[in-house]
Amino acid sequence: MESSCRILVLISGNGSNLQAIIDSCYDNLNADVVGVISNNPDAYGLIRAHQNEIDTSCVISREGESREEYDVRLDAAISRYQPDLIVLAGFMRILSPALVERYEGRMVNIHPSLLPLYPGLHTHARAMEAGDSEHGASVHFVIPALDAGPVILQAKVPVYGDDTIETLSERVHEQEHAIYPLVVKWFSQGRLQMKDGRAWLDGELIGPNGYAPD
Ligand code: GAR
Repeated sequence: MESSCRILVLISGNGSNLQAIIDSCYDNLNADVVGVISNNPDAYGLIRAHQNEIDTSCVISREGESREEYDVRLDAAISRYQPDLIVLAGFMRILSPALVERYEGRMVNIHPSLLPLYPGLHTHARAMEAGDSEHGASVHFVIPALDAGPVILQAKVPVYGDDTIETLSERVHEQEHAIYPLVVKWFSQGRLQMKDGRAWLDGELIGPNGYAPD
């Protein structure tokens, strides 16, 4: 990518992943967070954006509005930033296929599980209930099917017998803050693509569990 990669981050809440990406962009000459969009006007991530002098927009759902109608307004807000990459960082809305298809290959998400395990909500509780000994997070390209796009990178954490949702979530978050900036960096360097429904790094196919060095 010749000029700096324009990153747009969509959030709904705390924005700790947003913060990790902002921090990493200070060391990455190839990428700039040019905007943050939230569906929640009280999201703490908006304050993080302001503290870093990053432009923000809120797109708040209206009563009786369909998903498609909301997404038309969301898309208008997105277009204003002319992003090269859209980063979903705890954006807790399902996107309509039309919107996802428009940004295919240019939209990534982070999900708090080792996909394909536990798409959807309450992933930490579900991993604990299943008695899993490991859990984690996945960064993937977004496709219309929920949490089903090709995985780019995963990070695993152990699950301990005395874990609570809070302790496990904290352990997963710590890993998220390492893997998400790395994926953004790869994309901004032009090394990462989605092609034929698969994820590729440096022209090499990434396996189903995400990039794993030889
Ligand atoms: C993260 O754990 C992320 O994986 C999750 O929301 C959290 C946002 O934290 N995303 C999803 O559950 C999406 N299905 P943050 O606001 O502190 O970055």
